Amino acid sequence: MTNSMVADHARWPAKDDPIFTIAGKAQDAEKKFGVENVINSTLGALMDDHGKLVAFKSVYDVFKQQPDEELAAYSAIAGMPRFLKAVEQSFFKEYRPQARIRTIATPGGTGAVKHAVWSYTNSGDEILTSDWYWTPYQTIAEEGGRNIVTYELFDSKGNYNVSGFKKRFKEIIDRQKRLLTIINTPAHNPTGYSVSNEEWDIIIEFLKEEAMDRDKKIIVLVDAAYIDFAGISDERREFLGKFSDLPDNIFVIAAFSASKGFTMYGLRNGAAIGISSSQEVVDEFYSACMHSGRATWSNGTRGAMLTVADIIENQDYYRRYMDEKATFNNMLRRRAEAFVKRADEIGLKLVPYRDGFFISIPCENPFEVSKKLMEDNLFVVPLAKGLRFAVSSVSEEKCLKAPEIIKRSLENNK
Ligand SMILES: Cc1ncc(COP(=O)(O)O)c(C=O)c1O
Repeated sequence: MTNSMVADHARWPAKDDPIFTIAGKAQDAEKKFGVENVINSTLGALMDDHGKLVAFKSVYDVFKQQPDEELAAYSAIAGMPRFLKAVEQSFFKEYRPQARIRTIATPGGTGAVKHAVWSYTNSGDEILTSDWYWTPYQTIAEEGGRNIVTYELFDSKGNYNVSGFKKRFKEIIDRQKRLLTIINTPAHNPTGYSVSNEEWDIIIEFLKEEAMDRDKKIIVLVDAAYIDFAGISDERREFLGKFSDLPDNIFVIAAFSASKGFTMYGLRNGAAIGISSSQEVVDEFYSACMHSGRATWSNGTRGAMLTVADIIENQDYYRRYMDEKATFNNMLRRRAEAFVKRADEIGLKLVPYRDGFFISIPCENPFEVSKKLMEDNLFVVPLAKGLRFAVSSVSEEKCLKAPEIIKRSLENNK
């Protein structure tokens, strides 16, 4: 570009978001060939069997009851107090750790990721996450002059690669002294992996050993955006109780998102939850996030916050919401089971799936394979190490068909 007007730090290559580009092509194919003849597994949102976005009635009935003034008004910068209480209640359920906890509203879970990256790393720092990861981590990190570095998510047995994590973690923290690590669990995007309770025990034990060096500052961001679609009951929240009585140089931030759990994607509603054994540490977290939030988005969506508060506080609303969520969680599990079972039958290799919206297929040349699959009217998202198939947006019937089409395409691309 000969006449670039943007400042140096804001000069990024012009590129379209690949997910939205492929999703656009899928929609064109649906118009041309009919929805029934297209498998569109691109978008990470819950769709019904006819490809329509699921918006929980139990949520939107309550939302629409909010007075106009409540929908129109600003929220408090920190978020509406009733909402913050409701977030903690619905997030931890019976697994609230023995710790000091402070919560601040953010526009979606993305805002919580931004807070962790901006307020808990220094310029030029490395941030550690797994090699399969949600790409906006990179966008958020590079925007602030930080770098994402990775370890392999799975070991050769397909379990969480704890030793790879430890090795990389140690390398960086010995040099950097401060380290933010992002663990996206349960129901990791893009693989659907959930770190088990036993794996968490090993991770926490390791972090405690590292924390014995008082010069080290350890920050763990638990990105739990999909927690409401993990497990059947609350078993996938159990690990949260393990953040009890940690040394005060380990700080846990949980990213809460109302996007999936309350189907509030566009309402931009979420929170950052700070967990520490030290009141000082969580108070400082609150002040840092207040400042940064004011400087970035000012405040969140009041009507969405009040809706979540109303649902959590009112037994009838809550029951209705939980029933509706369970119905869709069951639908999601049936779809994923169909996909995994069929893949297993025909020998299509997947990365280990446990919960949630996505299943990933490891492969060489994902971009080429994804392009080829479009010729079969199957739309998947190519990632660095494979393909992401969103079971959240594909009917059970199509989830049964897809593995065979993918396997054939992989074989033809060898
Ligand atoms: C892994 C992961 N983290 C966080 C988010 C945050 O989403 P939101 O900002 O809509 O809450 C998403 C949404 O797609 C996600 O996939």
